[in-house]
Amino acid sequence: MARHIVARTSDIPPGGNKVFGVEGRDIVVFHVNGEFFALLNRCPHEGAPLVKAACVARLTSPEPGVYQRSRVGELLRCPWHGWEFDMRNGQSWFDPQRVKVRSYPVAVESGEELQKGPYVAETFPVRVEDNYVIVEV
Ligand code: FES
Repeated sequence: MARHIVARTSDIPPGGNKVFGVEGRDIVVFHVNGEFFALLNRCPHEGAPLVKAACVARLTSPEPGVYQRSRVGELLRCPWHGWEFDMRNGQSWFDPQRVKVRSYPVAVESGEELQKGPYVAETFPVRVEDNYVIVEV
């Protein structure tokens, strides 16, 4: 799996998202609670663009009349028919055994680390003496 630099962290504000074309796929990256999540921008039901999904909380109820919110903003509600997916792994809450959105690993790294790169060209000292350029090997 190749690594692709898609954006600066400031390009996707907290609570926001953005779609990037990566190797022929539209991938939507969400910025939620200080974390970034990447999913295929296509609902597995009928193909709705998940960039337009609502980012909602998980609601649970220990007893009638009482409900608790957790993981605020980490669940996606599809804009077309309301199926919900876990942003962390793409798992469906409607049919977790069979329905899933493709998710991708995301990393945030400093520009300095990225700038170094894995390949470094060999360099040699150069100086000028009496109008002659001298390279030391
Ligand atoms: S297209 Fe997403 S729930 Fe139908």
